[in-house]
Amino acid sequence: MALDMKGKDIISIHDLSSEEVDQILDTTQILKMKQKLGESYQPLKGKTMGMIFQKSSTRTRVSFEVGMWQLGGYALFLSANDLQLKRGETIADTARNLSRYLDGVMIRTYDHQDIVEYARYSSIPVINGLTDLLHPCQVLSDIFTIKEKKNTLEDLKLAYIGDGNNMAHSLMFGAAKTGMHIYICSPSGYEPDSEITRLSRLDAAKTGASINIESDPVQAVENADIIYTDVWTSMGMEEEQEERLKSFSRYQVDGSLVEKAKEDVLVMHCLPAHRGEEITDDVIDGPHSIVFDQAENRLHLQKAIMALII
Ligand code: CP
Ligand code: NVA
Repeated sequence: MALDMKGKDIISIHDLSSEEVDQILDTTQILKMKQKLGESYQPLKGKTMGMIFQKSSTRTRVSFEVGMWQLGGYALFLSANDLQLKRGETIADTARNLSRYLDGVMIRTYDHQDIVEYARYSSIPVINGLTDLLHPCQVLSDIFTIKEKKNTLEDLKLAYIGDGNNMAHSLMFGAAKTGMHIYICSPSGYEPDSEITRLSRLDAAKTGASINIESDPVQAVENADIIYTDVWTSMGMEEEQEERLKSFSRYQVDGSLVEKAKEDVLVMHCLPAHRGEEITDDVIDGPHSIVFDQAENRLHLQKAIMALII
């Protein structure tokens, strides 16, 4: 039986049940197939979605806008700098106003609490398009991509090498809901948030997943089915860049590290990449890399989310 997800916010994978995650993945597969066959599917005719961006974006912006258009609806790009928010209108008032015009809203912002606050006052569904804490749409599409390549998620070993950031956190929640074993490998001082670790371990106990924190990249990738990495300096942390370059120098995903994983290991990156820092050209452009499949699947996955919740 299909689960009714109309009106649901997508703010954190932790808030979704494993059944809801499965439904999003199954719907993605159907919508991707329709798209490849050139079949039109427009359940959102006449619907509108606002997209509030406080940070830059290539993939999120374009895939949501194109996805909404393909579903028959219309997406409005709203730069936070041009909204009255910038001049001090409250998040609550913005949410209550936009709820009168739109059918859904996607937000990319810094402080995760801002999106939580927005959702409290919004009467339309809210989608998290990245905060400093989480990036759920990216990870849901990554999970779809892994399943597409490996036909299963259960008992796969995913080694995440790099910063304990928004990507690491959402990957921990995603692995926990789907039965994967995740190894987060970060330099000292850059480990994931302890509350996210605690919550993801609670979720993992229900699915047979495991959440592991490591500091040695070679040990982390041993027997890995997937190696994942992300930038060492996320948006908003630019002034720490020099210090981070030093702290992360042993945490680069290069050819010799990839060789230590399983022979058929998949190499993933949410992009944008800082080539030559967290990942080398030969790896990101090499035979194990599936980064552009990941990017494509953002479109299909987010169409599934919009079709299910709006
Ligand atoms: N991966 C991702 O979210 O890319 P953008 O920052 O380009 O949206
Ligand atoms: N961790 C990165 C992800 C970009 C999609 C950032 O927040 O900048």
